[in-house]
Parts: sequence; structure tokens; C-alpha cells
Amino acid sequence: MDLAIKQVSKASADDSLVLLSDGKTRWSDYGLSAAEAAYIQAEHKKERNHLLINHLKRWVYIYFLEKKSAAHLTLEECRRAGQQAHHCFARFKTEKVTVVDALDNATETLAFIEGMALSNYQFLRYRKSAKDKNELRAIGVLSTKIKASDISLLHILVDATCRARDLVNTPVLHLNAVQLAKEFQKLGKEAGFRVEVFNKSKIESLKMGGLLAVNFGSVDHPTFSVMEYKPKGAKNKQPIVLVGKGVVYDTGGLSLKPTANSMDYMKSDMAGAAAVACTLFAIAKAKLPVHVIALVPATDNRPSGNAITPGDIITMHNGITVEVLNTDAEGRLILGDALSFAQQFKPELVIDLATLTGAAVAAIGTFGIVCMGTADEKTKDSLKASGEQVYERLAEFPIWEEYDELIKSDIADIKNIGGPYGGSITAGKFLQRFVKYPWMHFDIAGPSFLHSNSAYRVKGGTGVGVRLLFDFLSKRAK
Ligand code: BES
Ligand code: ZN
Ligand code: ZN
Repeated sequence: MDLAIKQVSKASADDSLVLLSDGKTRWSDYGLSAAEAAYIQAEHKKERNHLLINHLKRWVYIYFLEKKSAAHLTLEECRRAGQQAHHCFARFKTEKVTVVDALDNATETLAFIEGMALSNYQFLRYRKSAKDKNELRAIGVLSTKIKASDISLLHILVDATCRARDLVNTPVLHLNAVQLAKEFQKLGKEAGFRVEVFNKSKIESLKMGGLLAVNFGSVDHPTFSVMEYKPKGAKNKQPIVLVGKGVVYDTGGLSLKPTANSMDYMKSDMAGAAAVACTLFAIAKAKLPVHVIALVPATDNRPSGNAITPGDIITMHNGITVEVLNTDAEGRLILGDALSFAQQFKPELVIDLATLTGAAVAAIGTFGIVCMGTADEKTKDSLKASGEQVYERLAEFPIWEEYDELIKSDIADIKNIGGPYGGSITAGKFLQRFVKYPWMHFDIAGPSFLHSNSAYRVKGGTGVGVRLLFDFLSKRAK
């Protein structure tokens, strides 16, 4: 991320400013004239919540914070306001902005800066020239309430989120399963966590039948990455395991997807993998005292001479046999192996993140994550609270036993599709067959990739999951 965020002790007269105000600000402190102050007050009375004033060498952007009915809604309002300010400065190609916390409120000001910083993200790797390139390179933070450590944490989180976005946005030609694992190794080296990558023969010796079956139609080899961050003084005795779906491209296989608005963005089918790896990156950078392992089974899903066929039967890592009736329901096959593999770590909790079902998108759209699982209520509440805090909200679905009937097979232990209804749940129920520990499943199919901008979540990969898991894990580390 080529955006610096750093604390400053004063703003110089030529610096462009953002003033976060509750209406009680002394405008003269920031070089504004009496006439300007009168204008600002008058506009504020008319309920305009953002204003822009042009001086010879600088712009002063004023934002009046409007408190919402709940603290987390106010924070989200701040992030969105940060995006609006970013949009304004982007038009002027401003390179440096100082944000003044005239609210004297660290969390709200940090949320505003987070919104600005996340809005500065662009994926320009394949564009020779970009007239619309964001030029913002530095955000100064002027506040008596914000600590340097808050700022470095914020920087780590925005950086990790943008790295996840980069991975999701990179097409499969540049990021197959082997290359994805190499990216994980780079992340591990930079942040300080261990990365071990299993190759195809190791995966064969482990009998990961799901991962191998999805890979049958591919010319590229599958990988299985095991990442571990184990700091001295970790608060948890048993690790927390994160599992990410790493389908680097999902054509559907022989059950081929249609192209438009379906297959055409399936480079994003590894968003779960990107999220868990970048979460590990963030917690290692922030040195959180929590022991976390991340597992990523990775392959592309393609049709070819040897591709798995609808009707085939495979044996998974834990010995369960699966009748594969739809090769497009491939995510659960590779995740089943990974969830079974996770057992050996005796985890206190496993959370999987996966772009698993179109049914999750049909149910709640892109505004949240469909979740379900067997973790205790306290853990679920804590996850949901983190979801609200970072505004990556969780909507819990039931996993009633009646759904088990829907994935029964006549000729194998289970089949990989349910009926026409409850598609996200039957996918979750499939995963549950591979789990013998407290577990949560996050279906991120909706929020992981956007087709148009939504405030600071810019079009394309969003990096969803990173901020959520980081918030949750930092609470567990306390
Ligand atoms: N990767 C897709 C799910 C998906 C859909 C992700 C939309 C992101 C946006 C998954 O592998 C899939 O194809 N699921 C099928 C399952 C069905 C065949 C039971 C689906 O949801 O249609
Ligand atoms: Zn699929
Ligand atoms: Zn998929």
C-alpha cells in the first residue's frame, strides 16, 4: 500500500485539511477567517454536513458528524464520510491531507481515516496509464486522543485488506494454485509466520479426495497451504484454525457455468483464501498474542478430458464417500478435506471462509455474510459483535437436522448438492460432516466481490473477512 498514515503535531498553513467537527470547533485555530467561520456556521444550521473551502494552496474539507442510533452505525457513517472526503480530494489530485480530530474522539476519527484509506485502493497492475489514478500518498493525523499505536494498527489493517483485494482481483492466468501458495510464502516472510505448501503428491498421500477430484480437469497442480502464527505468550492453549476456499477459478467444471455475470468473475472464488492469509498477515504484523493456523486448499475447477463427472463417487480425507452430482458444487469438496485435516490440531475453534453458494447472495445480497455453525453462543455473539463493529455483518442461518436428509445419497454416504431450497444451509450441512470441534462457516459469496462501488468498498475484490477476523482475534487475544 503506497499510502502513509502518520501522526503529526501540527498542520502547516499550506496543508489541505479535513476538519471533523461536532459544531463546536474554533475555526480560527485552523486558519479560517471570521467570514468563513460565519459561512460554515450558517451552512451547518442548514444541515449541510460537509463543506469545502478553497484557499490559495490548500482545501479545507469540513465534516460535521451526525451521530446515529448506535455506536457501530456512527462508525460506519464516519467511514462513508471518509470516502466522500477522499472522492473530493481525488478530483483535485491532492497528495497529502491532514485529518484533524476536532471531535476529540479517537474511534470515530480513526473510522473516518479508515474509510479514506480504503477508498484510495485501486487495482492498476494491468493498466499502462490511468488518468483516474488516485494521487493521495499521505494522511496526517492531528489528534490528542489517537495514539501512534492506533495509527500503526489501522495501517496494518488497511494494508492487509488491500493485499486481499489484490489477490482477489488478480486473474487466474497470473494466480493459479501454485502461484497463490507462493504469494502466501511471501506474506509469511514479510510478516513473520510459517508457511508450508503441500504439492500434488503430498496431497495424494494425504488422500484428500475432494481437492484432487476438483483438480482432475486442470492442467495446473493443486496446492494445500498450511500457515501458522504461534507467538510466545499466546493467550490460547489450543489454536484457532481458519480455513479459506482457494478455488482460483471456478468454471463450474463439466457442470459449466454460463459466462455473463457468473463465470466471468469467478477469479474471485479464492476470496476466502485471500481473507484468511491476509488476516494471518495482519495479526503477525500486529504481533497479537494468539495462536492461529490458516489452511488453504487451492485449485482451479475446469472441464477437460479427465474432469470429474456428475455421478462420480469420491472418497474424502476422512473416509466419507461423496456422490458428486454437480461439479459446480466444488467448494465443499475441497473444504471438507481441509476441515477434516484441521482435526489434528485439536483446535479450540475453526472458522471457514468461502464463496460457497449463489444461494447466500440470493438470500441476503452483498450486505453481509451468511454464517452458521456449532460454536457456543458466546463465541457467536462475539463474532457478531465484531461484524457490527467493522460493518461486515453476520446473518446466522439454522443448521437443523432435517436438512441432513437433503444431502443423503442412495449410493454414497452423502451427495454434494441438496434440493432446490436452502442451498447455503445444505452446503453448510455438507461441511458439518467433516467437523468434530466448535466450528463456524462464513459464506462470503455476496460481499467478497462487488460489481459497482459501495462507498469505501470499491468495485472488485473487497477483502471482506480480514477486518472482521482481526477484530475478533484481537478480542480473543486480550
Ligand atoms: N463459487 C460458486 C458460488 C458463488 C456464486 C460465489 C456467486 C460467488 C458468487 C460455487 O462454487 C457454486 O458454483 N455453487 C453452486 C452450488 C450449486 C451447484 C449446488 C451455486 O451456488 O450455484
Ligand atoms: Zn462452483
Ligand atoms: Zn466455487
